[in-house]
Amino acid sequence: MNVIRVTGGKPLAGRVKISGAKNAALAVLAGSVLGRGESVIENVPRIRDVEIMLEILRSLGAEVSWQEPNAVKVRVPDEVHCCTPYLLARKLRASNLLLGSLLGRRGRAEISLPGGCAIGSRPMDLHLKGLQALGFAACLEHGYIKGQARSPQGNHIYLDFPSVGATENIMMAASVVPGVTTIENAAKEPEIVDLANYLNAMGARIRGAGTDLIKIEGVPSLRGTRYAVIPDRIEAGTFMVAACITGGEVLIENVIPKHVQPVVAKLREAGARIEEKGDTVHVTAPSRILPVDIKTLPYPGFPTDMQSQLMAMLSLAEGTSVIVENVFENRLQVADELKRMGARIKVEGHIAVVEGVPELYGTCVKSTDLRAGAALILAGLAARGVTEVGCAHHIYRGYENIIEKFRGLGAEMEAAGEASEETEDLAGK
Ligand code: EPZ
Repeated sequence: MNVIRVTGGKPLAGRVKISGAKNAALAVLAGSVLGRGESVIENVPRIRDVEIMLEILRSLGAEVSWQEPNAVKVRVPDEVHCCTPYLLARKLRASNLLLGSLLGRRGRAEISLPGGCAIGSRPMDLHLKGLQALGFAACLEHGYIKGQARSPQGNHIYLDFPSVGATENIMMAASVVPGVTTIENAAKEPEIVDLANYLNAMGARIRGAGTDLIKIEGVPSLRGTRYAVIPDRIEAGTFMVAACITGGEVLIENVIPKHVQPVVAKLREAGARIEEKGDTVHVTAPSRILPVDIKTLPYPGFPTDMQSQLMAMLSLAEGTSVIVENVFENRLQVADELKRMGARIKVEGHIAVVEGVPELYGTCVKSTDLRAGAALILAGLAARGVTEVGCAHHIYRGYENIIEKFRGLGAEMEAAGEASEETEDLAGK
């Protein structure tokens, strides 16, 4: 059981460099299966989800190796295997992105149903509908998603919901399917644009990524290339909230300011002073955190991946805030753990009413998912006393060198291998 121990009460100060984006790196690594020859992907964060994705690529027969501190070299043979190992694939959601790239490369795929954060049912119906529209037989069978090329042909696909993963899978498969494909109501996240840029660098013909209408002209094949992924907008947002919740002042480097606009706008509303300059964002905490209302929405709306972190900060606001989680049906769980630290939060369905309190108290808490874990660290940084965040493996899935980065900002934080009795019991629940 791994634990991150935080001693709260110190305002953060200094500068922190943001790593490459987890959700861009995972999509691009899955997309590398489409490229004949070799790809070198740069600015890849050394996090657990990436390591698992690399293991999956190796299990498919790819040669994969780390270069320098954050580049990965991938060479995928023509006879790459088409079936992902259950034990690896179930560990992360992004394993489902191999569906689109294997279908594109080999015309066949068997992907065990993905895992990832327990924040909702996370079905795959939109992925399957889109791939079927492209002429692939794709269905769920005994815990596996099986896909097989029938007569692949470009098509018009309307997504009932702008699903990030479904947009990525359809875009990858369509990039090497004859004819023109249009995806309407496509997801517009920056990670979609990053994947499209990488595929185009490999010879694909994708236009409109980042808008809700993406047009893809299929080409016979793609060739591996060198590509650097974008910085992580959610990691950047997490450190912006850390500055605010601790009453500190932090310069965040290696950011694309446009990608963090929804979070910048919300933190300004809460009273923070934020200056953007080039690839940096300078955050000065408000003297008192003002209550704000939040509705999570697909990009460019407020990101669901920042909702738990804001809930932690608004637990200390001077007033009541309302959070509506519109993207995942079960992503307010962190409220229970924050209440153990003295927060006053009432959850009804997908709405959380957060009544600010003057102080939080350190105690033993458990991270239920990646962003809930990050939120509990933020709460621990502001709380009086020591907080032990259990199940910290969730946090290491998506944040590179998180303890070193926070310590570099003056936080008192350490990885504690052993959990206290109470945290251990808690994790057992
Ligand atoms: C991606 O997940 C991200 N993960 C998530 O980040 C992020 O929260 C999410 O997009 C939304 O931005 C990766 O990129 C690896 P979706 P994904 O398909 O693709 C429903 C993090 O913390 N849906 O856009 O799984 C689904 O149930 C993680 O970094 C269907 O109904 O998200 C959900 O309610 C967590 N049918 C909503 O759409 C489908 O076929 C959004 O899901 C697919 C999705």
